[in-house]
Amino acid sequence: MHYLGNKTRYLDPIVSAVTDLTPPARTVLDLFAGSGVVSRELAHYRPVLAVDIQAYSAVLASALSHPRRYDLPARRQIIATALRWLEQVRPSVSALLEYESAITNGALDDPQRFAMLVEHGSIASLDGTDLDHAHAKTTAQPALRAAGATITRYYGGVYFSYAQALDLDALLFAIGHGPTTPSDSTLVASILGTASDLVATVGSHFAQPTRLRDKLGNAKPNAVAQVVRARERPAIEAFERWLQKYSDLDPVKNTCTAITSDFRTVLNTLDDSVGAIYADPPYTRDHYSRFYHVLETIALGDDPGITLSPGTNAPSRGLYRTSRHQSPFSIRSEVDNAFDAVFSAAYDRNIPLVLSYSPQGGGTRARPETRLMTIERIVQRANEQFRSVEIRTIDDSSHSRFNRTELHGNVPTHAEVLVIARP
Ligand SMILES: C[S@@+](CC[C@H](N)C(=O)[O-])C[C@H]1O[C@@H](n2cnc3c(N)ncnc32)[C@H](O)[C@@H]1O
Repeated sequence: MHYLGNKTRYLDPIVSAVTDLTPPARTVLDLFAGSGVVSRELAHYRPVLAVDIQAYSAVLASALSHPRRYDLPARRQIIATALRWLEQVRPSVSALLEYESAITNGALDDPQRFAMLVEHGSIASLDGTDLDHAHAKTTAQPALRAAGATITRYYGGVYFSYAQALDLDALLFAIGHGPTTPSDSTLVASILGTASDLVATVGSHFAQPTRLRDKLGNAKPNAVAQVVRARERPAIEAFERWLQKYSDLDPVKNTCTAITSDFRTVLNTLDDSVGAIYADPPYTRDHYSRFYHVLETIALGDDPGITLSPGTNAPSRGLYRTSRHQSPFSIRSEVDNAFDAVFSAAYDRNIPLVLSYSPQGGGTRARPETRLMTIERIVQRANEQFRSVEIRTIDDSSHSRFNRTELHGNVPTHAEVLVIARP
C-alpha cells in the first residue's frame, strides 16, 4: 500500500542487519511498524512484535504476516451482503447520487461546479454548498446516520465520490466491522487498501483533498480530470483484488503480534524475550495521524468527529479526526528526548538497536519536508549511550545491498542509512 517512508525497497539490508543481531528464537521489536512490510519480512526469520500508535498499522501488519484466505464462495457472500446493504440505503440517498453524477458528468464543461462539489462535499457541513447540494445532503443525512455510513457522511464527496464512499461503508457493514466488533484483519486491510486505491491525491494520502483551483480561484482542468478519473475506480473490484493479493502471500515462519501502542509504553515493559529493536520513527514535522486519518477511522470503525478550521465553525479542509496523535518525533522541542528514550531503553536492557534514517520520504512532492534530526546528531546522541555505533549506507540499486560500512564517516546526504547500535 502507498505509505510515506515505507521500507519496501530496503527490506534485504534491513532484515539482514536486524537478524544478525537477534539470537535465534528471540523476538524482534519493530517499534514503528507503519505499513507492516518490514515486520512481515522479519517474521520469516524471527518472532516479531509490531508496534505503532496508529491502529491501521496493526491491521496491516497482521494481514501481511498472517493473511486469511477467502475462497470464492466466502468472497461472494461478503459482496452479496454489501450489495444488499447498498440496495437498502441507496433509495434514501438517491438525490445526492444524482446530483453527484450530473456534476461529475459535466465536470469537463463546468469544472468550477465540480470543484465546489469537492470543496463542500462533506455531509457534515452545509457551509458554502449550493441549494441543490444542500438539499441532497440534508435528505441523505438521517438514512446515512441510521445505516452507520461513517465514511460516506464524513469523507464522501471530498476524498471519494459519494458512490465510492457508500461502497466502502457497504463493505465495512458486510464484514461486520465496528469499534467493539473488529473484523478479521485481512478483510479490514483489504478495505484500507481499497480506500488507498480510490483516493485521488498524489501519494494516496489524506493530508488534504487535491486542490482543484489555481491561486486566482479558477478550476484547473487537468486536476479536475484527474479526480474525475479516480472517481470512476470501482471499489468492490479493488476490494476483491486486495483479498486476492493477501491470499497470494507466502505464509511467514514465525508469529507476528501487532499492537497499537505508544513506543514509550512498550519500551517501559520490555522483557528478555526481545533480542533486537528495529526503529524507523518519523523524521519530519508531518504527523502520520494527519496523512492517514481516514485509514485510522476505517481501522477503528468509530465515529471520529471533525476538527474545525482554526477560528471558525467550519470543518477543517482535510476533515481530520478530533483526537489525532501528535508524535514527539515530529515536534522540534520533543524530538531529542524521543530519540533518547529509544536509545536509553535499548541500552538499559542490553538490546541491540537498528535505526533507519532516510533522506527522503517526508512531506509531499509539492511540499517536501526537511528532517528534524540530522544523521550526525542522531549518531552523536547514540554514541553517548552505546558501546559501539556503526553507520551503514544502503546502495539504492534494485538489489539494495549495503554499499559500504563507515565509522563516524561522512554520511552521504542522499543515502538511506542504518545506524547499528550495540550496548
Ligand atoms: C517512517 S514510518 C514507519 C514506516 C515503516 N517502517 C514501513 O516500512 O512502513 C513511522 C511510523 O511511526 C509511527 N509513530 C509515530 N509516533 C509514534 C509513537 N509515539 N509511538 C509509536 N509509533 C509512532 C507512525 O504512525 C508511522 O507509522
